[in-house]
Amino acid sequence: MLETTRLTRRRHLVSMDSLVTQAYDLHVKRISGGGVTMTDVTTTIQDLYSQGDMLGRVLAFLKSKGIDAEHPSYEDLHVCDQMHARGVDATREHAEHAEICSGMHVLEVGCGIGGASRFLAKELGCRVTGIDLTQECVDVAQELTLRCGLKEAIDFRQADATHMPFGDAVFNHVWSHNVTMNIQDKEKLALEIARVLKSGGRYSCWELSLGIGKQPFYPLPWASDASSSFLATPDEMVAALERGGLKLVRRIDLNEAYLAYLDDVSDRAQHGEPPTKVDPQALKDRADFLIRVQNCGRSAQEGRLVEHLIIAEKAR
Ligand SMILES: C[S@@+](CC[C@H](N)C(=O)[O-])C[C@H]1O[C@@H](n2cnc3c(N)ncnc32)[C@H](O)[C@@H]1O
Repeated sequence: MLETTRLTRRRHLVSMDSLVTQAYDLHVKRISGGGVTMTDVTTTIQDLYSQGDMLGRVLAFLKSKGIDAEHPSYEDLHVCDQMHARGVDATREHAEHAEICSGMHVLEVGCGIGGASRFLAKELGCRVTGIDLTQECVDVAQELTLRCGLKEAIDFRQADATHMPFGDAVFNHVWSHNVTMNIQDKEKLALEIARVLKSGGRYSCWELSLGIGKQPFYPLPWASDASSSFLATPDEMVAALERGGLKLVRRIDLNEAYLAYLDDVSDRAQHGEPPTKVDPQALKDRADFLIRVQNCGRSAQEGRLVEHLIIAEKAR
């Protein structure tokens, strides 16, 4: 009975979604003239993750939840500081699988507004460095971290994961959560990660990947169209990491929990229930973000998107 209800809901959402997606596609900014350059792609990605007044929106959202926005705890921020499915629950799961320990120096690549960095610093006692391509994300990460008293434990800076501003063999662990979908040159990313990792250090990569090899439906939370979305199949990702000097330790399939989460988001939206936690991207335009999440749902249901975690190690 429950399954039938879910299927009916799914069918309804799929047909509604395709209409909205078609309309949306007409308005998607296309990069004109010949080929698409890296600069175009970088700007497109930065534009997607910038809001202009993200800090104001985050602070207003915290206040609407009755939280002291001047002096929040790092846990208070969990209502809107994780830019990925399943919020801090997924962050915690990622940390457990990655076996992050107290005292490690962790590099968070694509740190967004710093949710996972603060978790690793406060809950696990790590020293953390966070980098992100989008300056506004870095600014918000710094301000929130200052407000919750963790400034000394975390250093945030603007940087591209494929050109990192660090020396060799600096970090015990490199972490990325839902970032690699925006990075075209996976081998270059792997080479950079292997370079900055200490010998025997690990890279944990939580990401969406291509399931059956067919493109997902756009727009998605990380890209409005395929021009800035670079999904690899799990095998392609593992091969790129290995070419870059990182050996696969294990791969964990996260799809079941991902599908259940997407179902829950759709159910709540259909019943007009607000989510308990929001991705900060939704604070800009909730309706637009819902379309993007629903497209994740359609794509994952058809096997076009698969969520997984790869743990890889730099040779000793
Ligand atoms: C979906 S958000 C995830 C943020 C964060 N990991 C989290 O889960 O809360 C993706 C982030 O990756 C960043 N990003 C995309 N491409 C990047 C690159 N080449 N180097 C560094 N950061 C990048 C974006 O600016 C954005 O903040």
